[in-house]
Amino acid sequence: MEQQTTSAPVVNTFNEWDPLEEIIVGRVDEHTLIPPWDVVMPACVHDKTQWDFFKEHGGAPWPVAMLKKAERDLDAFVDLLHQAGVIVRQPEPYAYDRPLATPDWEVGSSCYALMPRDVLFVIGDQIIEAPMGWRSRSTERFAYRELCKEYFRGGARWVAAPPPRLSDESYVPGFVAPEEDEPQRFILTEHEPMFDAADAIKCGRDVFIARSSCCNRFGIEWLRRHLGDEYTVHEIEIHDTHPMHLDATFYPLAPGKLLINPERVVKVPDLFEKAGWDVLVCPEPEMPASHPMYNCSRWIMMNVVMLDETRVVVSAGEKRFVRQLKEWGFEPIECPFWDFETIGGGFHCASVDIRRRGGPASYF
Ligand code: NVA
Repeated sequence: MEQQTTSAPVVNTFNEWDPLEEIIVGRVDEHTLIPPWDVVMPACVHDKTQWDFFKEHGGAPWPVAMLKKAERDLDAFVDLLHQAGVIVRQPEPYAYDRPLATPDWEVGSSCYALMPRDVLFVIGDQIIEAPMGWRSRSTERFAYRELCKEYFRGGARWVAAPPPRLSDESYVPGFVAPEEDEPQRFILTEHEPMFDAADAIKCGRDVFIARSSCCNRFGIEWLRRHLGDEYTVHEIEIHDTHPMHLDATFYPLAPGKLLINPERVVKVPDLFEKAGWDVLVCPEPEMPASHPMYNCSRWIMMNVVMLDETRVVVSAGEKRFVRQLKEWGFEPIECPFWDFETIGGGFHCASVDIRRRGGPASYF
């Protein structure tokens, strides 16, 4: 009889806090580009004064000095992960500067392979390539193809959600982002399923997701049906004038501990209260207003990475948040990251966990 061998799955991740073993971290290189102006950007870029910057410089590499500083931060994050015994993988370099075109649209370039969290939704033993809403990011998945092939050969499941066509029918014509005191509205129509992987966050057998400038109800339904009976997909109601990605808004950090953005979560779903979870209200960010930020807000400090239920990688400089995390029973590990955050994301954006030691469980 053939001998059965049991080995741990190469891809295995059900939540944000089981002990981290392997992670993909994005790449900063000299080809990392300023995102070109894209139909979706008025709905995503908070600071209107930066629109002209993207219109004028989109498609050019970020200034060398900015990239150097961002790279220094990313290197510090990678070192920290190595010291914690985590295997770190990185995407391949990729020709971001080539123009992209389909019969429906064209853009001058793609962007980068900086933010794996947005591209790959990794859950259980499967990798789902997200049906992303930015035209300029529609080929970003290819930077991760060698890794996906390797994980597939190692036993992982690998699937791409239907790649969206991204024609004009997918966007509300002449969309204007809501002001703070206006009801929530979104740029995406329901023409086809769309979401970025970072619009969803895992919590064992439950997945939380919110509509955003990259995620529509059709996309949520696609994910719900694709995941089937093994998971329950819950839609979170948020209020955000420029919604994009859930992990600076709503973040189950550890069993019984939900971190929320006080400005954006309209209602914490009842199941958290019923199950006795603590709702941890994130303190105000401390990054000085003078620190340049493109493409995301200062709330990016919520975008932590959990090494396990207790150890949390957090942006150095966010002292109030660090103190608060300690009071909540965590062990914060500070890492400089403000200069990476400048070009569009935090630790969680810059990475996607591939393997954590643990299995599926329900926390409700
Ligand atoms: N769009 C969010 C960041 C999400 C990771 C923000 O700008 O706060």
